[in-house]
Order: sequence, then structure tokens, then C-alpha cells
Amino acid sequence: MVFQLSNECADYIKSHLPEELQQPRVAIVCGSGLGGIVNGLAASPRVVLPYESLPGFSVSTVVGHAGKLVVGLVGDNRVPVVLMLGRFHFYEGHDMAATAYPVRVFAQLGIKTLIATNAAGGLRSGFQVGDLMVLNDHLNMPGLVGFHPLRGSNDDRFGVRFPPLSDAYSLELRQGVRTALKELGISRNVHEGTYAFVCGPTYETRTEVRYLTAVGADAVGMSTIPEVIVARHSGLDVLAISLITNVAVSVKPPSAHSAVPATSMEDGMANHQEVLDAALEAANDIQAVIVQVVNKL
Ligand code: ADE
Repeated sequence: MVFQLSNECADYIKSHLPEELQQPRVAIVCGSGLGGIVNGLAASPRVVLPYESLPGFSVSTVVGHAGKLVVGLVGDNRVPVVLMLGRFHFYEGHDMAATAYPVRVFAQLGIKTLIATNAAGGLRSGFQVGDLMVLNDHLNMPGLVGFHPLRGSNDDRFGVRFPPLSDAYSLELRQGVRTALKELGISRNVHEGTYAFVCGPTYETRTEVRYLTAVGADAVGMSTIPEVIVARHSGLDVLAISLITNVAVSVKPPSAHSAVPATSMEDGMANHQEVLDAALEAANDIQAVIVQVVNKL
């Protein structure tokens, strides 16, 4: 069913692409406020496909997330890419498999590399708003309790029943980011670390922050991991980059015995506007890094 539908969707997309875009090589999923990379595409040829027109696609409901694919060329080497502007989140009510359905379509298109960006909360001590974190591992919290994009019968045409995830994040692509940062002279802090995927839409409680930190997570967010898992299931190489849009490390355990002044209760409190503001500021750097990495693929 999904194989057939995603195949039909891929055929539909190809039927709208001119010769030079017929074989996209990279798919780029843009996180909250990180869609500016569209300005890094050559002006022509460029094809815009709204999600409503795409077989099997749902519609994204989050403010700051558009709902369209843009197919175009990146960099001096004119690498054909598909940009996904607006992703699907589990907290919106989509099934876990549905949140990653576009990646099934990318696999059917013959795309070999997935690049995903997201906004995330910083957990590791020292992380600051505006830092980047290149994922080198993840913690799939909903997956651990049964909400997993590969749950259900396996379609061997996509991949194996029990895919390993110990090396989910391509070392070569991670090194590509380091090189790109040097070449572009970007001085922003860039870390590598573990992203904890949580359901949302609430931001974490203080205790949840302590829990995630204790089990080794460096950043936390509500997206990306279903897409990464489905990409790895189909053998795509993956690069994922988090923009740290708020930090949760200042959160202290509330004490039953001490009165906590009202202002300090706001330490580490996340809100969606803060996420969008930080994304806007860092968007240009992320965009430049991705263009540089893709240009060398
Ligand atoms: N996205 C941005 N900040 C976040 C946070 N603190 N928790 C979950 N998702 C986020």
C-alpha cells in the first residue's frame, strides 16, 4: 500500500520535472524557520509542488511551516535537490509512519541522501541559543514505548525487518559540515551530540529535562527521528543538524521547602516565538553550510 502510493507520488513528481531535475540526489527537510535555503537554489529551473497535489501527502498545520516541495539546483555544481518546506509532526495527530511518508517518496525517487534540520532545546551544559548540533546519535522516546515509524508488517522492497541504527548518521557528511564551516569562516559554536525525540507539543517539564540529560541526551526536539529511521531503512545516507533555540540547562529541581521567586521560575522556559527568532538569526549560516556540503556530493 505505502510502497504503491509512494511510487505513484514519485511518478507524479517526476512527471512535473524538466530534464535537468529528473534525478534529484538529495532531499532536504527544513525545520521551523529554516526554509531560507530555498533562496540558495538556482532561480531556474525550479518546480514548486504543494502538498495538496501530492498523492499520500498530508498537510502541515504548524505556524512557520509551509507545505510544499521545491525541486531545484544547488551550488556551482548544480546538484538537483528536493526541499521539503513544512514537515509532519506526531503531535499534530499524524501516525508515526505518516510523519515519515515523504521520505518513502524520496527513496522511490532514487534520492541517496537525506539532510534534515530542526529547532531543538539545548540540554548539554554549555550549549547556547544559536549553537548548532550535528546529530551523531538519537534517543527515540516514543519509539521505545511503541510509537515507531517501522511498526507493522515490513515491506522488504524498502528495507530489512530489523535495521541497525548504530551508525545512523554518516561520518562523511558530518566531516563535510566541519570542512564547510572552515571554508565559510563561520565561527558559530558547532557541537556533535545525541538528539532526544519527544512527542510534544508541550515543552519539557523540569523533571523531564533532568531525565533526558541523565540518560545522555544533548538536545531535545519533536521531529526528525521518524524521517531519519525511514531514510536508514531504505539505505539513504543521513545528515541532521539541530539549531539550539532555547536552553534548558539552568533548570533546577523545584524544592518543596524553599520559596522560588516568580522570576526564576521562567529560567529555561521554552516558547515557540523564541524558537522562531533564533532560527531566523542562524538560518543563513545553516543554509550556507548545507549548500556547501551538497555542492560536494
Ligand atoms: N524545539 C525547540 N525547542 C524545543 C524544546 N525545548 N523541546 C522540544 N522541542 C523543541
